[in-house]
Amino acid sequence: MSDLKEVSLSAADKTVVLPVHQPVLGQPCIDIGKLPKETGCFTFDNGFTATASCKSAITYIDGDEGVLMYRGYPIEQLAEKSSFLEVAYLLMNGDLPSKDEFAKFEHDVTKHSMLNERFTQFVQGFRYDAHPMAMLMGMVGSMASFYHNDHDYADPEQRRLAAIRLIAKVPTIAALCYRHRIGWPNVYPKNNLEYVSRFLHTMFEVPSEPLQLSPVAAKALDLLFILHADHEQNASTSTVRLVGSTGANPYACVSAGVAALWGPAHGGANEAVLKMLEEIGSTANVQSAVDKAKDKNSGFRLMGFGHRVYKNFDPRATIIREMTYKVLNELGINDPLLDVAMKLEEAALKDDYFVQRKLYPNVDFYSGIIYKALGIPTEMFTVMFAIARTAGWISHWLEQQNDPDNKIGRPRQVYTGSASRDYVAIDKR
Ligand code: CMC
Repeated sequence: MSDLKEVSLSAADKTVVLPVHQPVLGQPCIDIGKLPKETGCFTFDNGFTATASCKSAITYIDGDEGVLMYRGYPIEQLAEKSSFLEVAYLLMNGDLPSKDEFAKFEHDVTKHSMLNERFTQFVQGFRYDAHPMAMLMGMVGSMASFYHNDHDYADPEQRRLAAIRLIAKVPTIAALCYRHRIGWPNVYPKNNLEYVSRFLHTMFEVPSEPLQLSPVAAKALDLLFILHADHEQNASTSTVRLVGSTGANPYACVSAGVAALWGPAHGGANEAVLKMLEEIGSTANVQSAVDKAKDKNSGFRLMGFGHRVYKNFDPRATIIREMTYKVLNELGINDPLLDVAMKLEEAALKDDYFVQRKLYPNVDFYSGIIYKALGIPTEMFTVMFAIARTAGWISHWLEQQNDPDNKIGRPRQVYTGSASRDYVAIDKR
């Protein structure tokens, strides 16, 4: 790591000395905060490719080496040894829980799994075919109306309670949205089950017959939730932080995160991958799909490929790829889409276009095949991502609210509109 302490920058005939922040891991960051005052210039960074927006102790990524760590623990170890709920505790609190701490956390999350009965009425207002992400966004946002007036989010205990409520209730809301879409009656979460099994029951159980849940399914989903739980300052987490910086209600902040996640360049990619694989249809069509993705005029990209930070491999994709074979094998499923995905990966990884641009499969490339094998419909894929990422979003919100340096996020712009001009009356235009 560089020991750079400051840099000098000359702009508008002035030289300004800028301090450099040295992170525990990763590249040094030049603090440009005093630049406008001292030089009259702002910086421009389209898409934040060169800008750190905050200090954070939650997640570390080394994109060149394919490293991902939550609170210092490598994702591979957490994937192998931990559970989603333990990871949620870790993200929120900074350390792995003791047995007693975990028991209390699990108890608290479990006790908050139920929704206010008004939610079942609220969901009826959505069209029968509403996209579950649209419903989730609205329903999570509506939590602000249940937990706002009597709540003081300056109180750390109330903040903790909001985090618990979100982790507990988002899966119940997700299941309710799914059931509304297919016209199934509401079922209540079964608190004798652990987190992921409880969610699967709330989603798939029907009153007319008991649900035989495969332990393979619960284990696979738990692992997918661990891998999706956090990813430092991605678009949706940055959105949560931007909204959070204004002092908005935490449920409103997380609802904004759901909205940002929905886009196909972000969490919506998992749904887009499966649709793409279905459209490609067979291994015979793989090369033409690769060629189309290379053609800038086609408007087509290989979904599930590429990442802003990972330029070597996405460690989550490596774990999911391995798991896909295992899950399909254990569930006795032979999905031809897996062959299409493998062939597509192989063709892209040896193609100069993808090699030169360092485009590798990302977390979303294989996850859809597993979701499909678990019986989760395509339009619910991004909702699965949102359930897991809620743990990350709310951990970032908690960190931000505890940060004495927190200030409202307010970027500037390069103005490209008209220069000053005089108003012209409508009959003279
Ligand atoms: N297929 C074809 N070309 C691509 C792809 C792709 N999937 N991704 C990037 N490129 C090209 C892009 O056209 C550009 O080429 P050139 O340098 O010739 O102009 C170059 O690679 C760099 O791309 P970029 O768009 O400038 O890179 P970015 O860091 O802004 O975007 C990305 C990252 C993930 C949005 C992008 O790779 C992409 O659109 N991937 C497909 C969608 C996807 O899988 N998203 C999930 C991301 S991981 C999970 C998550 O964040 O939720």
